[in-house]
Amino acid sequence: MYLVSVWLHILAAVVWVGGMVFLAAVLVPLSRTLVPREVATLLIQQTGVRFRWIGWACLVLLLLSGVFNLTYRGFDWTWSAWQSPFGQVLTVKLLLVAGILCLSVLHDFVIGPRATALGQTSPASPHALQLRRQASWLGRLNLLLSLVVLALGVVLVRGWFW
Ligand code: HEM
Repeated sequence: MYLVSVWLHILAAVVWVGGMVFLAAVLVPLSRTLVPREVATLLIQQTGVRFRWIGWACLVLLLLSGVFNLTYRGFDWTWSAWQSPFGQVLTVKLLLVAGILCLSVLHDFVIGPRATALGQTSPASPHALQLRRQASWLGRLNLLLSLVVLALGVVLVRGWFW
């Protein structure tokens, strides 16, 4: 069960982070250069909406398999457990995961839908452009944080080497 849990944890991390990298490094730049603006905006929005649920499924899977991994490792959530080198790395990791969850809610359920709605009624308006910019910066910040969390996950298993 533990190996299945670690496999699910890594699978969820790969699909979620990989999807964000594809959006930021492939789809968005490409759609901006290749197709008319309206189609580009629609393509990014539709892809974002479709990936949203895959992303949330991955985050829920990361949380569940993460708690299982901790339990299997005998982490007892006591003060002394949090004080240990493992507990300190875990603290930073979980604080960043909490930040990622807040940014994801803001991006997926506040800024994103507003940008989509305004993008349909007045796509060239300054407010629509501002919302689209905010949405893409939230996405990039989340990607950056997820890469740090990924690194902390690797350190959790292997410890710091210095
Ligand atoms: C954005 C979310 C997360 C990402 C991207 C992530 C990523 C990772 C990665 C890459 C590893 C290393 C796997 C290995 O090298 O074998 C790992 C391990 C681990 N993660 Fe996460 N993680 C996330 C969230 C969480 C959460 C929320 C928890 C706890 C509730 C957690 C607990 C753990 C534990 C305990 C391990 C060690 C697994 C083991 O026993 O080998 N992770 N994580």
